[in-house]
Amino acid sequence: MNILVTGGAGFIGSHLVRLLVNKYPNYRIVTFDSLTYAGNLANLNDLKNAPNHVFVKGDIVSRDDVRNALKHYEITDIIHLAAESHVDRSIEGPMPFVTTNVLGTVNLMEEAKNYWKELSGHTFYHVSTDEVFGSLGKEGFFTEETAYDPRSPYSASKAASDHFVSAYFHTYGLQIKRSNCSNNYGSHHHPEKLIPLMINNILNRKPLPVYGEGVNVRDWLWVEDHAQAIDRIFHEGKVGCNYNIGGWNEWRNIDLVQELCSIMDELLDRKPGESAQLITYVKDRAGHDHRYAIDATKLHNELGWKPSLTFEEGLRKTVKWYLDNQAWVTEVTSGSYRDYYKKMYGEN
Ligand code: NAD
Ligand code: DAU
Repeated sequence: MNILVTGGAGFIGSHLVRLLVNKYPNYRIVTFDSLTYAGNLANLNDLKNAPNHVFVKGDIVSRDDVRNALKHYEITDIIHLAAESHVDRSIEGPMPFVTTNVLGTVNLMEEAKNYWKELSGHTFYHVSTDEVFGSLGKEGFFTEETAYDPRSPYSASKAASDHFVSAYFHTYGLQIKRSNCSNNYGSHHHPEKLIPLMINNILNRKPLPVYGEGVNVRDWLWVEDHAQAIDRIFHEGKVGCNYNIGGWNEWRNIDLVQELCSIMDELLDRKPGESAQLITYVKDRAGHDHRYAIDATKLHNELGWKPSLTFEEGLRKTVKWYLDNQAWVTEVTSGSYRDYYKKMYGEN
């Protein structure tokens, strides 16, 4: 197999590429990524000498970039992760989300359809999010049958891409698989997202900006478990089906930030409660979804997948990774991210 992984230099993509390259020495894995502010080749440093891995700088919105890569590497299958992924940025400016997440996805499928001609035997795997389902109240879970109700420009763009993927299956017979996953965490996570942002600010004794009252709930999954789930669905999932992926691990934001503070007090040899003093409640996110919670029973029952780590283990590993990789943090937080941070949180 020659698998094109779009967005392979990003957070989840780089974990997936690492897994595939190491687990399947007979496959050729082609990372296809335009290296936006969120993509970083350093995420794939350990694969520099891997004979079955190639990096191609390309934009999914460019038909030529996609066409050339498909042809040149004789691509047999695609796992599509490339996206604009940050909800706050989509509120600031939705257009790049429409361009990459909607147009880019359709472009990719159109080129794949033209290149493969005979569609059977080729998989187009679309990686999506639980945010397409909208916002839950206190009770209930998102299942594969939950109706779509996206509320942010980001989730609307992902929902649109999901619908196009489904349309290509029904209309043209593109052999699609799709998964909708909850919030990931782990190493190489861009510091604009909640967990790495808090780790860095705790370390540097900066304010910890908690939106609203901190009572919004997210369902957290170790990123390597997400990669394992994608691998399982790609190889064993049913064509035309979608699977929900989640950690059965719901946390209110404020409780999660408190937990990070206490782990870091211990690791940094601070007094218990010292880091929590940095918690600062700030203006809420516009249209902030209250609660996400995934029911991953189908994936568990059909394909035997379950998360491998407890949250306590995963959070500690994550904090340690950030403490040990400050050069990576410095690199990704320089340049345009500095301006974004100032705009969001002021000079601090
Ligand atoms: P990320 O922002 O860390 O990475 C996205 C990658 O896509 C980057 O490497 C970027 O350079 C690349 N990219 C962006 N636009 C591109 C374009 N036009 N052409 C080619 N490459 C482009 O995102 P992530 O958190 O790793 O998410 C990956 C995928 O998983 C996304 O589709 C996202 O919607 C989905 N997802 C993420 C989460 C999560 O918690 N992070 C949860 C569920 C689903
Ligand atoms: O649910 C899956 C989604 O999870 C993915 O599809 C997205 O790509 C990914 O970015 C993530 O979206 P969220 O908006 O849930 O993640 P984020 O880390 O931005 O925020 C998590 C929660 O923390 C959310 O309720 C907002 C809150 N938050 C976030 C930031 C950055 C804060 O309270 N303060 C902050 O500074």
